[in-house]
Amino acid sequence: MTENVIKACRFEHGCSRRFWLESETADEAASGRSSTPNTTGSGDVQQRGLIQGIHIFPTPARRLTMSEQFTTLHEIFTYKLGTALTMEHDSLDLLEDFEHAAMRSGLKEFFHTHASETRQQIENLHNCFVLLGEEVRRVASPAAKGLAKEAKSAIGKTADMLVDAVVLAGALEAEHYEVGVYETLLVLAKASGATGIAELLRQNLEQETAAIKHIKAAADQIAKKDAQEQASRTEEEAKMPTESDVKFLPFMPPAGT
Ligand SMILES: [Fe+2]
Repeated sequence: MTENVIKACRFEHGCSRRFWLESETADEAASGRSSTPNTTGSGDVQQRGLIQGIHIFPTPARRLTMSEQFTTLHEIFTYKLGTALTMEHDSLDLLEDFEHAAMRSGLKEFFHTHASETRQQIENLHNCFVLLGEEVRRVASPAAKGLAKEAKSAIGKTADMLVDAVVLAGALEAEHYEVGVYETLLVLAKASGATGIAELLRQNLEQETAAIKHIKAAADQIAKKDAQEQASRTEEEAKMPTESDVKFLPFMPPAGT
């Protein structure tokens, strides 16, 4: 079933470029899921399922070659959005690794839930591109890949009994980076008056902030427990007889006879 969906653009900058979306339902049109945006120079409503988009900064984005520089805020914003998209896809892979590596069932459950949230965040980022009037594209994010590599390496070096602490350390570092990325994007979106985009980014930021709170609480609890267990193991080891404490009994033949 098709429906006419018209969304008024809330951005009021100079650029008049617009795009439309054909959608099967109002919900699909609102989420931007059902089709790729098509650009049009006309300002009139032309198609069913129309969503108007407009550049959030006055100068439209262009494709950059390797030797070119960003010359507009719109280009910077679009680029950062692309790195955020790559970051979230990498995060999805990392969360699966964390779920697999964690020993405690509560942690496995948390990483599974946050992976679902991350899928929603990816959809939000796609919708940010749609609202921008830009095609969805990923941009390399070496920082996110570096954090994932470091976390996986530390997990590989750690004994099972302590691995949860290392998993949580990797998760905390990655989530803090994600918060930094969303805070930056949100600053730019708010400055431009892009309220629809800012709202989507705010939702992602809220989920990341909540994840950090959960991870910190779990890390705190587990580190204390690990420290107690380590102390009692050391105490037990101190009570065990050493080699020099073992005396030969008189009836035992001397060694080597
Ligand atoms: Fe996250």
